[in-house]
Parts: sequence; structure tokens; C-alpha cells
Amino acid sequence: MIDTDIIDFYNRGLEQERLKDARRSIEYHRTMDVLQRFLPPPPATILDVGGGPGLYALTLAALGYQVHLIDPVPLHVEQAQASSDLAEHRLASARLGDARDLSQADASADAVLLLGPLYHLTTVADRHQAWSEARRVLRPDGMVVAAGASRYYTIWEMLSKGILNVPGAEETVQQHIATGQHRNPGRDFERLWTTAYFHDPHELASEAVAAGLAVRALFAVEGPAKLLPDLADRMRDSVSREQVVAAIRRLESEPSVLGLSSHILVIADKAPAGKEER
Ligand SMILES: C[S@@+](CC[C@H](N)C(=O)[O-])C[C@H]1O[C@@H](n2cnc3c(N)ncnc32)[C@H](O)[C@@H]1O
Repeated sequence: MIDTDIIDFYNRGLEQERLKDARRSIEYHRTMDVLQRFLPPPPATILDVGGGPGLYALTLAALGYQVHLIDPVPLHVEQAQASSDLAEHRLASARLGDARDLSQADASADAVLLLGPLYHLTTVADRHQAWSEARRVLRPDGMVVAAGASRYYTIWEMLSKGILNVPGAEETVQQHIATGQHRNPGRDFERLWTTAYFHDPHELASEAVAAGLAVRALFAVEGPAKLLPDLADRMRDSVSREQVVAAIRRLESEPSVLGLSSHILVIADKAPAGKEER
């Protein structure tokens, strides 16, 4: 069961436009930067679990991948399917589903993307189930690319949005830092998101290991770049954008930078290096 708050939040339909916002698009450009360097070459089979309305799935399909999108929000699956129907390179499928209980067969995918589900699975047991399902459906030499939202970034976002002083904000931030748990106190979705879990970056890696995966790398997606006051302008200009992306890339795996990034990516293999299961 998905928390109704989470479904209500995504039923507002904002997800389709979210990463088109200039400032937020850094998340997309940097995630693609990492994916293009680490995914196996096309036409590998990718499961985009929690793929939302399909931005990454369709970009990867256009690059020649066989992409299956899975999401628990019917609106997202409909939006992904509608975009796929209009696209030159379509998705292999777009279906309703939950990261904790995938319908895919064992060892059927070359890569699993978890770019969203772990934000909204608030218990260790549920996240473990999602990691284990990702591992199950991977081929022996397959990999997971999973995103977590950082518990050490939210205070800066709230400060920059000028909402650290709204009632309840102080307690909210304290809770993020102490436990990673986020609950919207009054469904002010505009400013205070929905039910979520914020990771410590190293905990994200430990969760992958606990599910039997071998961590290859941990990356800051945005680094501290979302704190640049003119980030939106820089993202609108392709030369400035590449400068920002290159700067983040230089420090992408520096442990002391990871937590300041809004999102963290972990790349984990089904088999430890040199020990592919057969
Ligand atoms: C912030 S959106 C990210 C969408 C897309 N992957 C992206 O990065 O742009 C989080 C996504 O996770 C999905 N989600 C939430 N709980 C999930 C679960 N238990 N299993 C799979 N997906 C889930 C939501 O429906 C939503 O589409």
C-alpha cells in the first residue's frame, strides 16, 4: 500500500513539468551525465522503477535502450504512455507497479533505475524489499542506479526559499537531520512536499550492501550547485550549463560534498567485481 498522501501529491500532476524548470533541470542533466557514463550500452534492457511520467525512460529509449517503466501512480503511467505513443522511440512498456513487488521475471534486466521510490519508502524493511526486488530482476552482470534525497540539504533549501520561519519548519528540519523522516504537517504541498525519507549518503550505500549488492560508486547529483543564486540563468545557457555540470563532476564522489547535494546516486552491481554469478 502506498500512503494516500503520496498519491494525492503526485495526482496533482506536477511531476511532468518538474525537471523542465530551469533551476531543477540540473538534477536531470547530472543524472543523465552519470547514467550515460555507467549504463551498459544500448539496446540493454532497463527497468525504470518509479519512472514517473517518463522523462528518463523516454530519453533512454531515444538512445536505443529497451525501457520498461513502472510506477504506482496511474496518472504517471498514463502520461508516460501518452508521451511514448507520440515519441519516435517508444517505451517497451509502461505499467502500474510497486518497487517492493515487481512483476518482472528473475534475471530479466540489465539495469534497474530506482530514481524516486526510495524517497517515499519510509521504513528500513520497505526499502530493503525494494533493493532486493531490484537485485532479483537483474541479470548476473546487471546494475542498479538508485537515488536518495539527502537529509543534510533540506535546511539549505528551506533557508533559500525563506520558509525556515513558517510554523512547524524548525521541527521539520530537526526531524530530517535526526531521523530522515519527513511528514507534511498540513498538506501544504507547494512548499512542504509529501511523506518521504531523507538518506544519509553512506546509509544509501549500506542499504544496497545489505540487499546483497556490491557498491561501485556514490555520487552527488547536484553537489552544492542548487545554492547558486543564478543557477536558473546558467542552466538556460548551454555553455554555462556545461560549466556547472563539469564543476559538480569534479567533486561528484568526494565524501565531504555528498550530503550537501540535494540528491545522491549509488551505482551497485549484482555481483562483486570479477565475480559474476553464472
Ligand atoms: C520524485 S518522483 C521521480 C520520478 C522520476 N523517476 C524522476 O526522477 O524524475 C518519485 C516517483 O516515485 C514513485 N514512487 C513512490 N513510491 C513508489 C513505490 N513504492 N514504488 C515505485 N515507485 C514509487 C512516485 O510515483 C513518483 O513517480
